[in-house]
Amino acid sequence: MHNNLDEVIAKVSAKLRRTVPLATKSDVLPYRSEGGQWIGSPWDLGNGWWTSGFWPGLMWLMDTLSPDEIFHREALRATELMTEQFRIYRHLTHDVGFMFLLSCGAKHKLTGDGQARWDTLHAASLLMGRFNPTDTPRAGFIKAWDGREQLGYAIIDCMMNLPLLDWATRETGDPRFATVTRIHADTAAKHFVREDGSCRHIVEFDPASGAFVREHGGQGCAVGSSWSRGQAWALYGFTLLAMNTGEARDLETAERIARYFAANIREDGLTDCDFRQPKEVYRLDNIAGACAACGFLELEKLTGKPEYRAAAEKLLDGLIDHCCDFGDAYCGFLTHCTAAYHEDNAGTHTNIVYGDYFFVEALCKLKGVDPMLWR
Ligand code: GLY
Repeated sequence: MHNNLDEVIAKVSAKLRRTVPLATKSDVLPYRSEGGQWIGSPWDLGNGWWTSGFWPGLMWLMDTLSPDEIFHREALRATELMTEQFRIYRHLTHDVGFMFLLSCGAKHKLTGDGQARWDTLHAASLLMGRFNPTDTPRAGFIKAWDGREQLGYAIIDCMMNLPLLDWATRETGDPRFATVTRIHADTAAKHFVREDGSCRHIVEFDPASGAFVREHGGQGCAVGSSWSRGQAWALYGFTLLAMNTGEARDLETAERIARYFAANIREDGLTDCDFRQPKEVYRLDNIAGACAACGFLELEKLTGKPEYRAAAEKLLDGLIDHCCDFGDAYCGFLTHCTAAYHEDNAGTHTNIVYGDYFFVEALCKLKGVDPMLWR
């Protein structure tokens, strides 16, 4: 990397020390910032939005990367807030992996807290309850959402939720969790990952037979396009799967996706929101770049291939050179994050919490202190 890592970490740490107290005053976990304040989820969902685990996760990572009582206290407070969602229940979709591995799972991993372990197992059981078995033996998928019209919907993002199930099998010895991971991952490899390594975002299946019904465009630019954050979820998700299963076919899928992603990184190291968006459109999503950098760094460890390290460094240098704001425009620091190609309400070209989360996770990996909260 041409940037000095220690300098970047010092700037991240100084900025968050200034802005964490702004979050501590509120009951809402930050989603993005506006006008010098953290603001909560779009659509007024309080802490039920799928991204809520990223703030506690960011605090647990910061407490590892740059230990400070301010990060530790905030990690504990934010994790506690997450557990209220078990009572409310209605927002708990397949995204419980994102939400609880990075909050309760992290607390258990980093402090040994026993209740946090039970809370993480609770989340894993909820994810198991979303499994849709089909008429074909050992086939099926994890359903993404709860709308009546979305019964057969599965999305590529779920690859990042599967490690919660593998964790639960390791933790309890109960093989059912890992079996569901295996079945869903095989479905995803077959129906989401295209020959060239690009991925679909949403696939609709017949809930009874499991037959492919159609692809939906989702958060990308169009049906048949290549939403970059979906590519990042697939890249890191299949890499985590390969780490958990040790299966050659999972690693082969992860590498196919990785080669496709690496070939689409922009010259400046930034990431287009959709790799198939019209050439004249300037729409970035740096969350995708930060998440993919984490996937590439883990893939380098698994394969020993230097090109994956090079791809991660290109992405991170790009983010540091062009899109980190350590001044006061935002409470966080990674700019040009975009929630969805066609939907501006959740944020376009702004600072969004999970961009910051993955950027800091990548810094932890480069410094050799990553607690690996996904496993
Ligand atoms: N999991 C939804 C998203 O990436 O925005």
